[in-house]
Amino acid sequence: MRKQIAAANWKMNLSYQQAAGLLDELLAQQIELAPNQEVIFAVPFPYLAMAKEKVAGKTNYFVAAQNCSDKKSGAYTGETSVEQLQSIGIGHIVIGHSERREYYNESNAVLATKVDLCLAAGVTPIFCCGEPLPIREAETQNAFVQQQLEESLFHLTVEQVSKVVIAYEPIWAIGTGKTASTQQAQDMQQHLRKVLADKFGADVADGISILYGGSVKAANAVEIFASPDVDGGLVGGASLQAAEFTAIIQAL
Ligand code: G3H
Repeated sequence: MRKQIAAANWKMNLSYQQAAGLLDELLAQQIELAPNQEVIFAVPFPYLAMAKEKVAGKTNYFVAAQNCSDKKSGAYTGETSVEQLQSIGIGHIVIGHSERREYYNESNAVLATKVDLCLAAGVTPIFCCGEPLPIREAETQNAFVQQQLEESLFHLTVEQVSKVVIAYEPIWAIGTGKTASTQQAQDMQQHLRKVLADKFGADVADGISILYGGSVKAANAVEIFASPDVDGGLVGGASLQAAEFTAIIQAL
């Protein structure tokens, strides 16, 4: 059975005190997770250790970094390596969020390197993909997102790709309040699973969790997550409010 995941991506929001308070409020809900359900908090770097401490002992609750260096180690001022993150117990890293691709020029090739570094360190990459609005308007989104997978994931072995979580986030739906329709999300995610099946085999593709991201909130999570190829969500804005994110976890 595939993992169903509610992943919070706080991006560059919240003070340390606000972040600690939000985690306390959320964790106080004591939401019971089924064995195949996971909750992941992708928090700013300075809060990783604090967040790790708060989820310690809570089954199936994890903390993720929002990014990592594409270099293994060395003289790269300001960068943080996968191995450094792994050494403080971080087991998940968001790779290739559209904001990284757009504002920091991260290419599919660079993201392939980051995925490799994660897998070599035993860290799960949450690999983001998704098309901008002009591509959706031109109705070429399937080929566009397929190419992102091909160029960043297709060099992996079957064993390696089985450890990747994919998050499909249409860029036009991120932070805009404009959610992809349930059918649009399902259609793309079904396409991606077929692309993975063609390359790695149906069994492998069936086991890979594909999350949807883009204006997921309490009011639409149940419907979006009900689609057969949607295995949870990568949630930005709504993950900053305890009541909203609690409802999103409960929608898994
Ligand atoms: O990583 C999360 C996505 O960028 C979605 O953000 O839920 O604020 O639209 P959003």
